[in-house]
Amino acid sequence: MKHRLESNQESRKAGTNGLHRRTSIISRRPSLSFLPICVSSVSHLWLKTVFAWFLCALPVCAADVSYQREVWPIFKRHCLGCHTDGKAKGGLRLDDIAALKKGGKHGALFVSGKPDKSLLLKQVTGDPPEMPENEPPLTAEKVKILRDWIAQGAKIDAAPKVDRPPVVIPATYAFAPSVTSVSLSSDGKLAAVAVRSEVVLFNVDDDTPPRRLATDFDLITHVEFSPDGKRLAAAGGSPQQFGGVIFFDSAEGKRQSTRRVGNDTLFKGNFSPDGTTIALGGPGGAIHLVPVDAKAEVKSIELHSDWVMAVAYTPDGKQLVSGSRDKTTKVSSVESLKLLRSIDQSTETINAVAADALTAISAGNARTLNGFDFKLALAGAEVTGSGNGARPVNNRDQYVRAYEAQPEAVMALAMSGDRKLLAVATRAAEVRVYQTDNRQRKVTIAKAPAPVFAIALNQDGSRLLLGSKSGEVQVYEVTSSKLLKTLIPVPVAASRTAAR
Ligand code: HEC
Repeated sequence: MKHRLESNQESRKAGTNGLHRRTSIISRRPSLSFLPICVSSVSHLWLKTVFAWFLCALPVCAADVSYQREVWPIFKRHCLGCHTDGKAKGGLRLDDIAALKKGGKHGALFVSGKPDKSLLLKQVTGDPPEMPENEPPLTAEKVKILRDWIAQGAKIDAAPKVDRPPVVIPATYAFAPSVTSVSLSSDGKLAAVAVRSEVVLFNVDDDTPPRRLATDFDLITHVEFSPDGKRLAAAGGSPQQFGGVIFFDSAEGKRQSTRRVGNDTLFKGNFSPDGTTIALGGPGGAIHLVPVDAKAEVKSIELHSDWVMAVAYTPDGKQLVSGSRDKTTKVSSVESLKLLRSIDQSTETINAVAADALTAISAGNARTLNGFDFKLALAGAEVTGSGNGARPVNNRDQYVRAYEAQPEAVMALAMSGDRKLLAVATRAAEVRVYQTDNRQRKVTIAKAPAPVFAIALNQDGSRLLLGSKSGEVQVYEVTSSKLLKTLIPVPVAASRTAAR
């Protein structure tokens, strides 16, 4: 899988490598332990050969393939990105034994004892093999494991082994961890910051020690206060394991509920204006709408062909703007859960999106910051069927409302709650704040700790919070661009901080 995230825990990496190593060492132990003795006790070479041939012609000779130890690791490594509960391409799930036996939309996955008649084998062989889609083919060794497994009756010896080392949150970090996401309460007095597996809450106006909220997610990619400020959402997950979101009570810092979504880390998103749902970008190209109500179902809109890096609600809550690693910016309907239009195609990945009442805004590695007039962009674009039924971007010039070019790749955008100000975080030290009505720059913060990975404004745009790759967090008063506070939100080993 391609999915890798920067501040993923080292411990987890070691764990995954360990697993791969283990599975290859264990591999195929012969089930007939007397076999070598029998063979070597025959003295003539030709007899030895014939005897060995004879023995191995018996079905029992091939070492029994273990589903749990050998087959499952192949599915887990190469297939689960597209064949799970949240995302069953071709109607096929490979993460569940009952579903595995049932097969996909073309029926059974295998004919027990007949690998060459089995869809599974057909899909992973051929030139080039169909599966894994758009990825390097399985090695001959892995194909053989699948072949032998089916030949031996596709037995399920034990349930898949899901071994994941627990997420460890250090009391003190050796180095300041990068800030991945930030949020400000509407009055601008309470700040939330995501680093690695934890969320840190601190007061802007006093020096009460920050509160650390631990999670069992490898990486939190998005943190956000609900519009009424009562709730705090922390979204992310663990690579190739699960995505999800945790809702906290922001006053108490207590966990209210946790939702798991899919089997890979989720990306940035946005609370709906009514605070009932959070929309989050998914690694498979979908937007996931996760309700705060733990009993209501999660809905998804499949619309991009690659990671959805960011999602934003329009102020009326009716539409979603999304930007993706597939370089497109799209608008979709919350009600119909369908794509309305691909409004732009950039030359580079889109990292951030925002929306004011009139325009959808997107930016990314191309260093351009563009607004797109909704009314004009969506005019004449009727709701298309589904998925990637994206119509080509035409009459683009009529609806683009460009901002000035940015000094570096744009990493994040923040809109004030009243949607009057837009703050832009880039890889450069300069943070710019624009007025959305005329797209003119209003404030420049000149010396932020670059690269700035995360940014937030409060309701009336009076305060700005930013987080850096360096681990530093700063709060500014916007109009005066005065620095109100600067800190590293988690404890870091003294020698390291002194050296900074
Ligand atoms: C990047 C996404 C992706 C990955 C990774 C992937 N698949 Fe698929 N798979 C698909 C899609 C999309 C389809 C549906 C193709 C179609 O219907 O035209 C599919 C269909 C299938 C089908 C046919 C199901 C049916 O009944 O129609 C099989 C079998 C299958 N995949 C097996 C695998 C196996 C085994 C792996 C891992 C070695 C794998 N896939 C990895 C995307 C993927």
